[in-house]
Amino acid sequence: MSPTIHIFDSPETTARAVAELMLLKAKEKAKLSLPFNVALSGGNTPKLLFQILADEYVDKMPWHIVRLFWVDERCVPPTHTESNFGMTYENLLKQVSIHDSNIFRMTGEADPQKEATRYAALLEAQLPMVNGLPKFDLVLLGMGDDGHTASIFPNNLSLLQYESTVAVAVHPTSGQKRITLTGNVINAAGQVVFLITGSSKSSVLRQIIQHESGFEHYPASYIQSGSVAFYLDKAAANELPL
Ligand code: 6PG
Repeated sequence: MSPTIHIFDSPETTARAVAELMLLKAKEKAKLSLPFNVALSGGNTPKLLFQILADEYVDKMPWHIVRLFWVDERCVPPTHTESNFGMTYENLLKQVSIHDSNIFRMTGEADPQKEATRYAALLEAQLPMVNGLPKFDLVLLGMGDDGHTASIFPNNLSLLQYESTVAVAVHPTSGQKRITLTGNVINAAGQVVFLITGSSKSSVLRQIIQHESGFEHYPASYIQSGSVAFYLDKAAANELPL
C-alpha cells in the first residue's frame, strides 16, 4: 500500500496536524473503551509535537486511555541529555497527567541485551497480539539524514526482519548503544506516522518516496506495510514532485 503524504507550511503546522491525528485516533479508541497504545520516537523533531500536546491538548486528549511506549532509547540514564524518555518527560509528561502505570519506558541505564529481552516480553504482555506480533495503535517515527528510522541504521538492515521485536543497535558513528523496536513490529502497527521536517532530510526523502536508485539502502524505505503516513513540512518535501 502506498503511503499517504501530507505537507504543511512549517514545522509547527506539521506537528499540530500529527497532534490532531493522534487526538482522532485516541477518541476512536475511547469510544470503544479501549486503550490507545502509542510508541514514541526521540530525537529533536518530536519536541515541538510534545510541546503542542502539552500546551494545547491537556484538556482535549483522553489521556486516561493513552499508554506510552518507546520506539527506541539511547543507552543512557533518563536524566541524561540524550535520553529519549528524558526529552519526552521534559516536553510532555511533566505537564500532562498520565498515570505511571501507563508509561512504559525503555530502561536506557540497564544492561542493553537484558533490556531488549525484557521490553520484548513487556510488549507481548501489554499489547494485543495479532499474527504473532504485538500491535501498536500508532507508531511515531522520525528519519535521520542517513535514512535511518527508529535505531535501525543503514549498516544494520537485518533489524528490519529481526526475530525479536526489540534489539540492541549501535549508532554507526558515535558507537552509542541503543534499544530499538525492529521492523516487523513497526510494520504491524495500525498506523505508522513519519514526522519529518527540515531541508536536511529532503533528498533522502525524495529517494525513499520515489523509489529512486539507492532507496534500498535506507531503513525508512522498508516501513511500508499497514498504514503509513508521512507528515512533512515544506522544507523536507522540497524535492518531491507534487
Ligand atoms: C533517536 C530516534 C531516531 C530519530 C531520527 C531523527 O533516538 O534518535 O528515535 O530514529 O527519529 O534520528 O532524529 P531528529 O528528529 O533529531 O532529526
